[in-house]
Amino acid sequence: MRSVCVLLMLVCVVRALDKLNMCMDAKHHKTEPGPEGALYSQCSPWRSNACCRANTSEEAHADNSYLYNFTWSHCGAISAPCRSHFIQDGCFYECSPHLGPWIQQVNQTWRKERILNVPLCQEDCESWYADCRHDFTCKQDWHSGWDWSSGTNRCPKGSKCRTFEEVFGSAKTMCEAIWSNSYSYTALKKDSGRCMQLWFEGPDNPNLEVARYYLSHAHPQAVAVATTMLLPLLLSLLHAGIPL
Ligand SMILES: *[C@@H]1O[C@H](CO)[C@@H](O)[C@H](O)[C@H]1NC(C)=O
Ligand SMILES: *[C@@H]1O[C@H](CO)[C@@H](O)[C@H](O)[C@H]1NC(C)=O
Ligand SMILES: *[C@@H]1O[C@H](CO)[C@@H](O)[C@H](O)[C@H]1NC(C)=O
Repeated sequence: MRSVCVLLMLVCVVRALDKLNMCMDAKHHKTEPGPEGALYSQCSPWRSNACCRANTSEEAHADNSYLYNFTWSHCGAISAPCRSHFIQDGCFYECSPHLGPWIQQVNQTWRKERILNVPLCQEDCESWYADCRHDFTCKQDWHSGWDWSSGTNRCPKGSKCRTFEEVFGSAKTMCEAIWSNSYSYTALKKDSGRCMQLWFEGPDNPNLEVARYYLSHAHPQAVAVATTMLLPLLLSLLHAGIPL
């Protein structure tokens, strides 16, 4: 009986570990993370361990890149400071190997998985909004509803170009609405270790520990097995004289 329980718990542990250090099944992601010494510019913090390739990291810096034919400048050229946040957002999405706890299956032609409600550090969301508030857009949700007839995303009929400030009204609304809840706004600061950072200095990725934290809380069974089941099992094996 006990061994069956342990087995089931182990399945939970293995599945939780499975969500650490992995890549989502999406358009440009590698199947497994690994070192990518040549990652470009703002994507370089992920060099030691990444889900993106060098060519993807370079394209992530281009407006209207061939990755998605998506332009940030659909209401006139976007400012350089604002663009840097969209580049960083792209690097984070394409390169991060630590998004496992927030990956969901989706039924889309261009990807099988997406991220949902990744808890962003407050500084990253607030600085993104601060640097874009005077730039222009015509929509809150940048994932859908565009006019793609020209080959790139154009504002749909009836929409109007207004400032980010007018369209979103707050950093929270922008971060959450823009990619249909890929991100969730938090009041957590980077030093909390409980929020994901778009911006960090390599080579160590602080998001690994954050993902580990959320996995252990989403899978309390995994923690339970380690503390209450495995230990007695090991002790009883030792007691029975089985060399480990
Ligand atoms: C990047 O290069 C790899 C091969 O190294 C290729 O399979 C992939 O299609 C390229 N990706 C893009 C976005 O060009
Ligand atoms: C982007 O546009 C080019 C030229 O129109 C086209 O060849 C390519 O397939 C498009 N790529 C995507 C990802 O839609
Ligand atoms: C995905 O979409 C297709 C076509 O709309 C549908 O037939 C299929 O059942 C959907 N699958 C899931 C898992 O929702």
